[in-house]
Amino acid sequence: MKNTILDIFHRRYACHAFLPDRVITRTDLDIVLEAGRLSPSSFGLEQWKFVAVSKADEKTALQAACFNQPQVGSASTVVVILAKTAELDPDSEYVERLMAREYPGAALAPALANYRAFHAATDIKAWSIAQCHIAAANMMTAAAALGLDTCAIGGFDPEAIKTLLGIDGDRHEIALILPVGYCADLAPEKQRLPLSELVEYR
Ligand SMILES: Cc1cc2nc3c(=O)[nH]c(=O)nc-3n(C[C@H](O)[C@H](O)[C@H](O)COP(=O)(O)O)c2cc1C
Repeated sequence: MKNTILDIFHRRYACHAFLPDRVITRTDLDIVLEAGRLSPSSFGLEQWKFVAVSKADEKTALQAACFNQPQVGSASTVVVILAKTAELDPDSEYVERLMAREYPGAALAPALANYRAFHAATDIKAWSIAQCHIAAANMMTAAAALGLDTCAIGGFDPEAIKTLLGIDGDRHEIALILPVGYCADLAPEKQRLPLSELVEYR
């Protein structure tokens, strides 16, 4: 088990070109999406939404909005991860509904007051996007476990993507683009700093 987990992390790499004719199954896609859904989130507010794009013309248009990076158009499915913004308002029905799950009954009011103070002091858009990146990491790991490849794409024009997908910019920000498929390239050697340079054991 311990080795299996690390094998999966070693297996994942940023794929720069997918085999355009190799389609992933709906079952596999849904497992990847489920890994996103089950991810942890600050205040349990599940700040993400996923738009799974598999139509060829839409993937081509998305590629253009991602500075023409070929891994976007060649992927089997491109998951566009949206970060909620308006729904995170402390007075929203959404916040009350989700926080009531963790803080039932009389516990809800003080929890909402705490969240209201946090919300006022925080760059909510950046915070929401950060939660989405946690979901994205889990989705990439799940994909690798299924033998699929991915590439996190942070290089995109958010306004172009919103226009393309009809996203309301008052409600959602584009967090990350995640193409999923079968890679056309072999995995490069992992380049990482050693733990000795990264960790202090105290
Ligand atoms: C938030 C984020 C944004 C990224 N954006 C891009 C991108 O726009 N284009 C790209 O080719 N790779 C992108 N990457 C992939 C990284 O370049 C890659 O993960 C890193 O170089 C390490 O290589 P590895 O993933 O193959 O281990 C991104 C990765 C992350 C986490």
